[in-house]
Amino acid sequence: MIKKAVIPAAGYGTRFLPITKAIPKEMLPIIDRPTIEFIVNEAKESGIEDILIIVSSNKNAIVDYFDYNIELETILKSKGKEELYQKVHKIAEGVNIFFVRQKEQLGLGHAVLQAEAFVGNEPFAVLLGDDLYVGKEKPALRELMDVYEDKKRSVLGTMEVTLENTSKYGICDPINTEGNVMLLKGVVEKPNPKDAPSRHAIGGRYILSPAIFNSLKTQEKGVGGEIQLTDAILNLMKKEDVYAASLQAKRYDVGSKIDYIEAIIDFALKDETLRPDIIKLLKQKG
Ligand code: UTP
Repeated sequence: MIKKAVIPAAGYGTRFLPITKAIPKEMLPIIDRPTIEFIVNEAKESGIEDILIIVSSNKNAIVDYFDYNIELETILKSKGKEELYQKVHKIAEGVNIFFVRQKEQLGLGHAVLQAEAFVGNEPFAVLLGDDLYVGKEKPALRELMDVYEDKKRSVLGTMEVTLENTSKYGICDPINTEGNVMLLKGVVEKPNPKDAPSRHAIGGRYILSPAIFNSLKTQEKGVGGEIQLTDAILNLMKKEDVYAASLQAKRYDVGSKIDYIEAIIDFALKDETLRPDIIKLLKQKG
């Protein structure tokens, strides 16, 4: 049973500068809630009990968001704003949230390594702080956890991309495929499209064996001078089977502007109080 999850959220968010100078990318709102809250909820709804969020020194807004704000809550109560009070008070209720700082931004792999003491010797989930998924029948992480419960090995969540877009992602190299589950022989980081071994791109959701920590500790810096999680997974494959599963859930890379805007529009269209006005607005804009 996977009960622990790690959310790396310590990156610089350079694609969203200058706002990310002061506001963490993971705190950018999808209307009135930050992206990271949807990711925490996905983990909770998948059955995760303990979540470690990896932050950096300028990400205190994330820590504050998941804490009570006693002053605000007292004011809301005293003014009889019970509904608003509940909204604020119940954020991430029912799940334990822990934080650790990544002191230097040495890459995603290095961020995950900060979770070693929290994880201990059990398999765990990783959800990237800027990949937002909306599940069709179940949360994206639950889809992966179901595959883990069958295979009892590491599983990487994937989505299908166009051949031209393979050069933007880690691309899976499968040995064999059974339904939506693939046993992997490799992962190629950002291949030239003509060399892409498949169109299955890794998309920010992972179930990893604790053996990944040994791989991370000995991992040399890779692309961009960063300790890459993909490189450590490749190393892990030499010792253990690693699977990939293509996810049904819809993904928004909210670290990219166009996906971020699409997420806001889709969430507004799903909100009954906003939907009619949003449709009207979009029609006006042609
Ligand atoms: P990204 O490369 O997408 O995030 O890392 P970034 O570096 O913040 O953003 P850009 O590309 O400069 O705009 C994927 C995830 O890994 C985390 C990020 O916060 C993001 O959730 N990360 C990355 C860390 O926690 N630490 C790092 O050193 C690097």
